[in-house]
Amino acid sequence: MKSSHFLVVESDASRAESVVSALAFLGYRPVIAGRNPMGEVEGWRGVYVGTVDDENELEGHLSALGRGGRNLPMLVAADSPLATSLIADDTRSNNVELIDMPLRYERLSEALRALQSRVEPVPSSRRFVGQSGPMQRVNALIRQVAPFDSSVLVLGESGSGKELVARTIHDCSPRRDKPFVAINCGAIPAELLESELFGHEKGAFTGAISTRKGRFEMAEGGTLFLDEIGDMSLPMQVKLLRVLQERVFERVGGNRPQRCDVRIIAATHRDLEGAIERGSFREDLFYRLSVFPLEMPPLRQRLEDLPALVSEFNHRLVQRGLSSVRFAPSAVGALCRYGWPGNVRELSNLVERMAILMPHGEVRAADLPEKYRGALPVEEVSGAALIAMMEAEPEVTESFAFVGEGDPSVLPQGGLDLKDHLAGIEIGLIRQALGSANGVVAHAAKLLRVQRTTLVEKLRKYGLSETVQAG
Ligand SMILES: Nc1ncnc2c1ncn2[C@@H]1O[C@H](COP(=O)(O)OP(=O)(O)O)[C@@H](O)[C@H]1O
Ligand SMILES: [Mg+2]
Repeated sequence: MKSSHFLVVESDASRAESVVSALAFLGYRPVIAGRNPMGEVEGWRGVYVGTVDDENELEGHLSALGRGGRNLPMLVAADSPLATSLIADDTRSNNVELIDMPLRYERLSEALRALQSRVEPVPSSRRFVGQSGPMQRVNALIRQVAPFDSSVLVLGESGSGKELVARTIHDCSPRRDKPFVAINCGAIPAELLESELFGHEKGAFTGAISTRKGRFEMAEGGTLFLDEIGDMSLPMQVKLLRVLQERVFERVGGNRPQRCDVRIIAATHRDLEGAIERGSFREDLFYRLSVFPLEMPPLRQRLEDLPALVSEFNHRLVQRGLSSVRFAPSAVGALCRYGWPGNVRELSNLVERMAILMPHGEVRAADLPEKYRGALPVEEVSGAALIAMMEAEPEVTESFAFVGEGDPSVLPQGGLDLKDHLAGIEIGLIRQALGSANGVVAHAAKLLRVQRTTLVEKLRKYGLSETVQAG
């Protein structure tokens, strides 16, 4: 992947800096608009749009990138003055991802992945992993409901795989050759959701510079995935209910009823029945949507799926041109004792993070970020494996240069787990020092300019004590 440049359009200097660090951490090469001559740079992957005065300024920067600049995927700060008009711009519709400030690492990497998968559609080999009892039941339900047009309501905690279930149902249905269109009802400002769903006519509101199709039209003949349906406002729920009942809708600012043939799959992590009691969710809509309810079990209830999930995520990393990572039995053991509040997504993020910190390395329990290590003692790893690990050059692929490693003072604003990040760097440096010192602690301590006792303490903390000679 040579094309890794990312244009940063942001006039707030401190924000620009944090965006630059975060993108660099994720392997991109951020370039601040206006500071560098951009004509010579080739291979742009996307544009971040933050505080910008007006659209002309943005267009100016984009045209400086030459042909294709205008079609680049866009990461737009949710509070950017241009956010509304960029989302409403039909020529960009599917190429924009909103992102909240301050940046959070997890959300940023997810948004970038989402943009990427729109540019390069996810291969059909997308795999739905899980052999545990609960997942076998989910799989059976998917096969049962897929062939019919019934609405499905997927319930479950965040990151438990609801969207993947929706895609799998679509892929197994007779609609598989038609579009699967997803919309996150919670992420789109309420006043824009209606036009996102139903489209709008030219001039329907400020910023509606041309007629635009909504997601219902885009999904015609296929499946519409309404994610985070529990976050939909009551007025929108009324409008949605009408479409589900009559299969007819109108564009915003239009009065011509349009028929639609769309299968609806909705999902939420919220307790909808509780929401009905509180009056924030309509009961009639609930019954429309939940013709076939499907509950995703949280990861902590199906930990036997964990190793297969890890290998699936490694496979995805390699497909993206990144390195994979191995987990030693001690690490897998620790992960199986963890509660996984963020479910499969959290696991996927952890695998990616460890692959960045220890490309091609083997992760032992002691290498895991602290919260995953658990209280139980970690088992020892064979000396040979450790020496191999210490000698392994930390291979940094060109496309995913881990900038933070060279300069630990570069930290994205609120975007990283600082403690874990620094611990990873520290472990890496200690390993290198031990490698150069043939495992003699006193020599390694000299290389690191710390007291021998300090290093011994750190070795104990990171579970590396067994790997070294006394001295
Ligand atoms: N059973 C599974 N097999 C493979 N990947 C999964 C599985 N469940 C979830 N994932 C992955 O975990 C991440 C989060 O899943 P997602 O469907 O977005 O969760 P949710 O919609 O419940 O928040 C995605 O990258 C998805 O591909
Ligand atoms: Mg989701």
